[in-house]
Amino acid sequence: MKLKFFAHSSFQLTTNDGKIIVIDPFLDDNPKSTVKSKDVDADYIILTHGHGDHLGDAFKIAERCNPLFICVNELAEYVASKGFKAHNMHIGGGNNFDFGRVKFTIAHHGSKTPDGEYTGEPSGVVLSIDGMNIYHTGDTGLFLDMKLIGELNSIDYMLLPIGDNFTMGIDDAVKAVEFVNPKKAIPMHYNTFPVIEADPNEFKKKVEAKGKECIVMEFGQEIEL
Ligand code: NI
Ligand code: MN
Repeated sequence: MKLKFFAHSSFQLTTNDGKIIVIDPFLDDNPKSTVKSKDVDADYIILTHGHGDHLGDAFKIAERCNPLFICVNELAEYVASKGFKAHNMHIGGGNNFDFGRVKFTIAHHGSKTPDGEYTGEPSGVVLSIDGMNIYHTGDTGLFLDMKLIGELNSIDYMLLPIGDNFTMGIDDAVKAVEFVNPKKAIPMHYNTFPVIEADPNEFKKKVEAKGKECIVMEFGQEIEL
């Protein structure tokens, strides 16, 4: 399985048998993304919440690729109201898809679309694909239940925000890594805009000081998991 980081909270997973899952595709208006939406394919699009920097270019990609959206019920209804395919789920629920399993988690944040629709609770997601568990926290503050998420799922890769202001900053994110205890942490949601400037290498050092591993991905980089 491959993981590509577009910058911000936008990632693309390519499974061993070639299925493409895109998470929170914020590309065309993302000053740090080296990739634009016209160059991104998706069989599935997972959205953690409705904010513009997460919903992003999902509909542009969907018009071209006809993916199945996977998100919490209210956001899925919004997606369906725009004419796209959606699988409605909700927090605490998991479902098996042909690429693997998706389970939604809580996230402490908000969820409203750029055109003013409230889209239910924001979420994180645990993906179980090709024998690995990946936890994308979505936008969130630190919460103690992350311990439970780590206890119930042996997390291989934890993707988590460090940019502060709207989400966890570096020190809270280090604590989140301690709570979840993943094999590797990957920082996201930083340096896209001035208000979320943060040094991912400071985060990496602090995570490593706790005896944990951290990968700082370059914007546009793809790695083999
Ligand atoms: Ni947000
Ligand atoms: Mn955000």
